[in-house]
Amino acid sequence: MKKFLELISDEMKKGFAQAGYEEELGRVTVSNRPDLCEYQCNGAMAGAKKYHKAPIMIANDVAACLADSEVFAEVNAVAPGFLNLKLKNSFVKAYVAKMSQSDKFGLEAPEKVKNIVIDYGGPNVAKPLHVGHLRSAVIGESIKRICRYNGHNVIGDVHLGDWGLQMGLIITELKLRKPELPYFDEAFDGEYPTEAPFTVSELEEIYPTASGKSKEDPAYKEAALEATLKLQSGNRGYRALWKHIINVSVADLKKNYANLNVEFDLWKGESDADPIIPGMVEDLKASGLAHESEGALVVDVKEETDTKEIPPCIILKSDGAALYATTDLATIKDRMENLNADSLIYLTDKRQEMHFLQVFRVARKAGLVKPETEMKHIGFGTMNGKDGKPFKTREGGVMRLEYLIRDINDEMYRKIVESRQDMPEEEARETAKVIGLSAIKYGDLSNQASKDYIFDIDRFTSFEGDTGPYILYTIVRIKSILNRYQELGGNLDALSFMDPANASEKDLLLQLAGFNAMMENACAEAAPHKVCAYIYDLANAFNKFYHETKIISEENKEQQAGWIAVLLLTKNVLEACIDVLGFEAPERM
Ligand code: ARG
Repeated sequence: MKKFLELISDEMKKGFAQAGYEEELGRVTVSNRPDLCEYQCNGAMAGAKKYHKAPIMIANDVAACLADSEVFAEVNAVAPGFLNLKLKNSFVKAYVAKMSQSDKFGLEAPEKVKNIVIDYGGPNVAKPLHVGHLRSAVIGESIKRICRYNGHNVIGDVHLGDWGLQMGLIITELKLRKPELPYFDEAFDGEYPTEAPFTVSELEEIYPTASGKSKEDPAYKEAALEATLKLQSGNRGYRALWKHIINVSVADLKKNYANLNVEFDLWKGESDADPIIPGMVEDLKASGLAHESEGALVVDVKEETDTKEIPPCIILKSDGAALYATTDLATIKDRMENLNADSLIYLTDKRQEMHFLQVFRVARKAGLVKPETEMKHIGFGTMNGKDGKPFKTREGGVMRLEYLIRDINDEMYRKIVESRQDMPEEEARETAKVIGLSAIKYGDLSNQASKDYIFDIDRFTSFEGDTGPYILYTIVRIKSILNRYQELGGNLDALSFMDPANASEKDLLLQLAGFNAMMENACAEAAPHKVCAYIYDLANAFNKFYHETKIISEENKEQQAGWIAVLLLTKNVLEACIDVLGFEAPERM
């Protein structure tokens, strides 16, 4: 469906053309004086110079031509030359009615369907997820869903950190603890056990222990580096052990991400890039792009227009080891060759901005991507505690994601039990989880990603204000009215829209009508916060209408059915929106 604002602009353009002025002047925007009008057009002001006329004269001419418009109920030319607009109720109703019958509420398929790869999550194997991983998962999942909803082919890749020193550290510690394992016996040439020689909790203890030791003891660190090298150069026992570490860890990660309603299509990792590196490095050398600098192999990426210093991108260290940038470049090559990507999107902390700037420039210079391939790094800000400092546990440590989710769910449970004593324990627990997730996700997504935000459990779990629970509360409220309507004999399949009966209903319809434009824009800008802002306004418009309108006791059945149609559409739109944000609504709360 054509966007609502475009239709309105089209009508205004007709008015300008009919009055003898250039069509393009008829661009309409949402009013910035909602007390005076719904929409406005400032084209007469812009046309004054061109036509050597007072803007108010142009505005008057246009207004006269639009006197019988099917779109505008009022076109007021006001000094010095603004056009203040109000829409016809019938026009608004017709648009919303059509929207309710259309696939995706009138959101059209994109002109060009893109293959988009989103790299998010980025957890490191053998380390538990902590709050630092929350933003990547939550924002990445939402961008994936928004792009998919818009009709693109989207692949989400978790891109595990599974290849670095942490692997060598774990192997070193295991070797100390269980030297008798066959993985450490160079002479062993049988089948290795299928069962891992550790559990996930052991793994989670082994890694920090090993990491601590390596900081104190240079010999230990040396051993870990050696083990890393041995693993990377293909030692059979180490590879087998490494597979166990990955399997045990990935099973646990999957469980944790599932609790967040986050799902990846690909579970690839840095290690998958490894076999691609040697050939890529050769190509970089052969093309002359990569050169030696202080023993290392680097690619210069600075450009004349840079306003700050952009250091060369290091491809290989002087000892020949590949780095973070090297794996990312090889991964780009892989994603281009195997996924034919048109767009590569990365979500990490914004402190990695320089890394991605360098990687993207090398990828372009080396022709790893097509000239038209987009590469976008979405760097997010820090999640802070109420003290304004990075979020920590009460003891000052890094908070595990599991515990953060548990704390939110407990608080949500407390609130539910307080307001709904009648709800059975088990349902209350389940509901707390569902609402808790909305609190966490909405609390994050409603901020522009690049900004830091304060993780405030009290605020996020509140049923009032700009929060996830408020949105869910609105949906649940609508569900209960729809249920009541059906209990009283109403049929949800036999509804037809009516002209809005009052100002708050019209306002709600105008909000609904903005859906397709909002969703397209949220995709183009990879901006979930736009979806949040939209549903917050929509929920507010709905609640205002609801408080002013007696729906269930309405005696005019046609009018009642018209209102129910509006409610049903509002609910469906809200649900589509929270689905792309990555959470859902309970049946009741
Ligand atoms: N594992 C990395 C980290 O913990 C994040 C990976 C992000 N993705 C990427 N392709 N570099 O910082």
